[in-house]
Amino acid sequence: MTAPHPQEPDGVAPRELAPHEVHDAVGGQAAFTSLVEAFYARVAEDPLLRPMYPDDLEPVKHHLALFLAQYWGGGDVYGRERGHPRLRRRHAPFPITPEAALRWAQLMTAAVREQGWPEQAEAHVLAYVARATPTLINQLPEEVSELPQEPR
Ligand code: HEM
Repeated sequence: MTAPHPQEPDGVAPRELAPHEVHDAVGGQAAFTSLVEAFYARVAEDPLLRPMYPDDLEPVKHHLALFLAQYWGGGDVYGRERGHPRLRRRHAPFPITPEAALRWAQLMTAAVREQGWPEQAEAHVLAYVARATPTLINQLPEEVSELPQEPR
């Protein structure tokens, strides 16, 4: 018999979901399309993020919805349309400061929570957002870049 899980009240560890299980649990491509609508409705009103995006948000919505479905194991339509994601490279033209990345993560988190997805699948997606967003920071505020390179 396996030992009870020490960190869970009932001794049972929550089972990790495989990516495609997240995809299926939330409702597949249509669910990511609806998430992306909710997210860009927020971006459209955001004074920090909106100027980074093109006037027409429709193509961006389409690409993000396909990317998310692919990331969560729902086939390779994004790859066939757009090639390898190379997210850092694709984001290089935009000034992604820690503040902008945090805003993006906040808006995406709010949009995810609004979807009413099953709890465990929602937790996986929120963990991904928290983990992935800081990796796209490509610009530090001036006061940080002006710090001396060597400790004095
Ligand atoms: C988990 C974090 C993020 C993911 C997964 C993500 C994903 C994506 C994807 C898949 C695209 C479309 C790429 C393509 O052209 O095929 C995209 C575009 C874009 N993203 Fe992100 N992104 C993230 C964070 C951010 C952040 C933090 C910002 C800015 C603060 C940002 C700004 C943009 C902009 C401005 C575009 C594109 C616009 C254009 O087509 O001109 N993204 N993102």
